[in-house]
Amino acid sequence: MSFLFWLGAFAALGLPAVDARAVVAHYMIYKTDPNTDHAQRDVREAIAVGFDGFAMNMGTPGANWSTSTVDQLFSAAEGTEFGLFFSFDTAQHPILADHFAVLEQYRNHPNYMRAGPANFPIVSSYGGYRNGSDWAHFKSTTDIYLIPNLDDTKPGGGDTGPYYTDPAGQLSEYNAIVDGYLSWESTWPQSIHGPENISSVGDQAVMDYAHAAGKSYMMGLSAVQYKNLFGDSWYRVGEVNLPQRMGQILEMKPEFTEFMTWNDGGESHYIGNMWPEAYATDLPEILLYANTEQWPHYAWQPLVTSFINAFKVGKSAKQMEPPAGNQAVGALWYRGMLKTCNEKVPRNIDAAVDSVNYAIVLPKSSKGLKIQVSSGGKVLTTVKANPGLNYAAVSGMRVGPQVLKLLDRRDKVLMSAASTSDVTNSSKCNFNFNVVGLKKRPPPNTDKSTRSIVNE
Ligand SMILES: *[C@@H]1O[C@H](CO)[C@@H](O)[C@H](O)[C@H]1NC(C)=O
Ligand SMILES: *[C@@H]1O[C@H](CO)[C@@H](O)[C@H](O)[C@H]1NC(C)=O
Ligand SMILES: *[C@@H]1O[C@H](CO)[C@@H](O)[C@H](O)[C@H]1NC(C)=O
Ligand SMILES: *[C@@H]1O[C@H](CO)[C@@H](O)[C@H](O)[C@H]1NC(C)=O
Repeated sequence: MSFLFWLGAFAALGLPAVDARAVVAHYMIYKTDPNTDHAQRDVREAIAVGFDGFAMNMGTPGANWSTSTVDQLFSAAEGTEFGLFFSFDTAQHPILADHFAVLEQYRNHPNYMRAGPANFPIVSSYGGYRNGSDWAHFKSTTDIYLIPNLDDTKPGGGDTGPYYTDPAGQLSEYNAIVDGYLSWESTWPQSIHGPENISSVGDQAVMDYAHAAGKSYMMGLSAVQYKNLFGDSWYRVGEVNLPQRMGQILEMKPEFTEFMTWNDGGESHYIGNMWPEAYATDLPEILLYANTEQWPHYAWQPLVTSFINAFKVGKSAKQMEPPAGNQAVGALWYRGMLKTCNEKVPRNIDAAVDSVNYAIVLPKSSKGLKIQVSSGGKVLTTVKANPGLNYAAVSGMRVGPQVLKLLDRRDKVLMSAASTSDVTNSSKCNFNFNVVGLKKRPPPNTDKSTRSIVNE
């Protein structure tokens, strides 16, 4: 079966609409207080970004609170086209059979996301490799569209494992079982030998293998992975992984993209909300390095919207457009301290660069614009800006304010983003990013961000 077969199959789907190319966000099922509007806000805000649904990471099947969260999400999605499906977290709970009950409970909900020629409920996973017989048994007991993560590459290994280098050897036993393949580790560059850019070589190999076997492919998209929890700490690049990966996905055109993640504070790649009831009691350690007050990541959302719009219609990164007409969108992001920090040093620190990172999407009509980045009062770079996606990791980050400017041909500031929290020479490491959205230039001397602009 060819790639076109899949386009046809997805286009013919019913509710909720999984169209030719669907983009979902990985969503950690944590405690959600039913007396709040938190589930509703997550669904509403994810719809506003352009996501088709959530891949619900289920690590505690059977726990009342997790079923309650699932229930709240389904209620929130009712009446919309937003889809939900389970992604069984086999690292937290390896026994597949235990996930059966919750799937059966929700599989017929009108918002349970479906796919494939038979329009079956989608089931995915985090982990679950080397468990072919369990998957085979699971699939034989219920009608599902199975798109698991069978990538057993060493964490931090990028696309270097045999799953990527020899998919025929690794995956042939699964072809009789699965409907598609989701790859996980290739979402971040190999981060164990110093700085590296994201590679799509392994994804291409697995996708080619999947398509030749009549299977679909789901590709991961993420900004960074930084964890400082349970006595361990690691960093996975990072820097401009988000826009670079967008370009690769737009080129490769897989059937699905999974954004990692909506709400995983522990790994610092959230783009949405981190609710207090999920973190304050059970995971307070996380709030020390990731929370949406000090380190909100919402400013990445307009870039993701622009990516989703392009992905849906098969455009390239150069053809990406701002979501709302001619108003450019973009963000500046940076680590809050230099790499010289020496407390709580994460594994793979050598992969990190002291860089000021940005991405800006400009409309087709833009001409003669420039992008300028300064750090600690020094201009690091001024480059020509092009229509579509522009991005860079500008090395040489210094202590002090970080500023991104969009300039016209006469160097007038059209838009800017300035650090709300400046870079320090702190000895304590935190490799989560500060993310600031590009805005129309604020009037002079009204706030701190203006000070940064004026002081340069
Ligand atoms: C879970 O919910 C069931 C049914 O609502 C209830 O009987 C049970 O006590 C609850 N368990 C816990 C641990 O809250
Ligand atoms: C595979 O399945 C067995 C039995 O259900 C389980 O004990 C094991 O942890 C699973 N392994 C993985 C990698 O999921
Ligand atoms: C990553 O790619 C950029 C160009 O997009 C290049 O300037 C940079 O040197 C690359 N980094 C590494 C570590 O290869
Ligand atoms: C930051 O601190 C380190 C060690 O404390 C020192 O070696 C380095 O020069 C400092 N850098 C700046 C820019 O202040």
